[in-house]
Amino acid sequence: METVSTHGGEHGLPESAYQRVRERLEGQRHHWLITGVAGFIGSHLLEALLELGQQVTGMDNFLTGHAHNLDQVRDSVGPHAWERFRLLQADIRDPAACQQACTQVDFVLHQAALGSVQRSIEQPQLCNDINIGGFLNVLTAARAAGVRRVVYAASSATYGDHTALPKVEHVIGQPLSPYALTKYVNELYAGVCARCYGQEAIGLRYFNVYGPRQDPAGAYAAVIPQWITAMLACRPVQINGDGETSRDFCYVGNVVQANLLAALAEQAGAVNEVYNVAANSRTSLNELHRLLSELLAERRPDLPVLAPQYRAFRAGDVRHSHADIDKAGRLLGYAPTHDLRRGLRLALRWYLRQRPVAA
Ligand SMILES: NC(=O)c1ccc[n+]([C@@H]2O[C@H](COP(=O)([O-])OP(=O)(O)OC[C@H]3O[C@@H](n4cnc5c(N)ncnc54)[C@H](O)[C@@H]3O)[C@@H](O)[C@H]2O)c1
Repeated sequence: METVSTHGGEHGLPESAYQRVRERLEGQRHHWLITGVAGFIGSHLLEALLELGQQVTGMDNFLTGHAHNLDQVRDSVGPHAWERFRLLQADIRDPAACQQACTQVDFVLHQAALGSVQRSIEQPQLCNDINIGGFLNVLTAARAAGVRRVVYAASSATYGDHTALPKVEHVIGQPLSPYALTKYVNELYAGVCARCYGQEAIGLRYFNVYGPRQDPAGAYAAVIPQWITAMLACRPVQINGDGETSRDFCYVGNVVQANLLAALAEQAGAVNEVYNVAANSRTSLNELHRLLSELLAERRPDLPVLAPQYRAFRAGDVRHSHADIDKAGRLLGYAPTHDLRRGLRLALRWYLRQRPVAA
């Protein structure tokens, strides 16, 4: 099976801090816990860590994650590296399971969550239980087990109704969904645990992550996999609103970079902070549609280019999103390796491989 590295490093773009961290890891094995390991981002973190010779425990209840994500990682890293991975099928709402998962762990990369704004509006209680209760269980278990540092998935949703652009970490508005609220509470809890117990944690506010293995199925699918699936099926894409809603779309390889940098960051003032993780460019949905159509036409000129269909704006959606990534650059050495065009090419290549090519 042909495999493609999706974590950067092969493109010659600036990545010196990341390169140094990767070299450090290659020389020293640590034990990592990835919660949400069978999900989109968790599976990329697993792949990167196993490739770097690390030992990984993964925890997942398969609520939105898939065994086939783990199968792809196993095929990519090979049987030798795979032996350094152990999976716990368990729920972060279970404190005992979190304690078991944290045993002898050096670093936690916490990704498990109910990740959809829409789903959180429909199921706020479930979202609260997993995203807040589960998060506190993970923090508590990590502290009890003497874990060195917890790096957790925060979210750009925390900027809420604040309209200032670009988004700077200390200027946030009112949350627009239960999901946004829970992600902000994570930051507050991490801060409280730092002040009360001296626990080390770093929050990464991801902005619209995309890439291989992002789930295209179901009502809660993110825009890029949803649209690629529609285009490959010769269906017009559905745009919520007028298409001028914009996002800072971030390739998953950039997110992997930010996690590893955050886990090993040593610079004074870098720990117990939150950071934007994005590509630092703003793209409207109309522009995204044009770019995807162009890139798909390169690979599949046989497919029709259909105009998008516009429908009502969606409740809870932020109108514009664009990250200032200066803080992550200064304190973590974060420098995205993949812009939108490069990232979309890699994502498209993967989605095309998942489907039989039409005769
Ligand atoms: N994808 C994005 O654009 C984006 C943006 C901002 C923040 N985030 C955050 O990044 C993290 C990872 O997101 P993703 O896109 O990979 O989503 P995902 O749904 O693919 O992954 C989440 C994983 O967590 C697991 N999980 C859910 N509830 C669990 C529980 N109670 N116990 C154990 N495992 C559980 C799921 O089964 C899944 O494997 C989430 O915290 C999400 O909120 C994602």
